[in-house]
Amino acid sequence: MTTFASMQILEANYLTSSPTFDKCPEPDRAEVAFIGRSNVGKSSLINMLCNNSKLAKTSVNPGKTQLINHFEIKYSIDQRSKKRRQEYFVDLPGYGFAKVSQRDRRRWEQMIENYIRKRENLVNLFVLVDSRHSPQKIDLDFINKLGLWQTPFSIVFTKADKNKPRATEKNVNLFLEGLQKTWEKPPVFFVSSALTQEGKQDILNYVAQLVYP
Ligand code: GTP
Ligand code: MG
Repeated sequence: MTTFASMQILEANYLTSSPTFDKCPEPDRAEVAFIGRSNVGKSSLINMLCNNSKLAKTSVNPGKTQLINHFEIKYSIDQRSKKRRQEYFVDLPGYGFAKVSQRDRRRWEQMIENYIRKRENLVNLFVLVDSRHSPQKIDLDFINKLGLWQTPFSIVFTKADKNKPRATEKNVNLFLEGLQKTWEKPPVFFVSSALTQEGKQDILNYVAQLVYP
């Protein structure tokens, strides 16, 4: 029997920023992380999910988030019991930021690879993809690397409010087609907007169901 988990966030607080995987908080609860190209809307999505526009710092300038940022999330998944559960949401720096040196880029890649491969409580990585663009090699390459690392992930197509629905649908389908070359099964995916809150409850319920299947 499948039960439907409806996640309600009760409280969300910034906890800490870490320069490397081994400086992250104790892995004593489940954690989901958000990654994707610089400026794709990672911090905005976390804020939208948590009902707090000031939680994660957002910026019109790419490259705002540079560390591994942990947020403590208190939530319930059953409106009747209101039992408070805890989880971490993690805001990661974006990739593909043009204005960094080769050395900084390599440092970033190493930091992210270590975090993704070694963080034992990471239950899902949300890879954010800008729904306004046709498939970008940098996103497909990143997702293919996750296959190599056997990292559980799902995709969130962001900024849907900026397109006509048909354009979003077209870009999503093209992206999924791009993945078909290397993946047998299509990934779980969501379409979202930090502006209209599209996708919010579906993403939250998915998170709850990952931890309490
Ligand atoms: P870095 O930390 O620099 O990698 O960026 P990020 O991926 O965290 O992006 P951020 O959330 O800072 O958003 C970048 C810009 O896009 C900001 O100006 C946001 O207001 C805007 N933005 C993010 N999500 C949406 C969305 O769903 N709709 C619209 N219209 N704008 C968005
Ligand atoms: Mg950010």
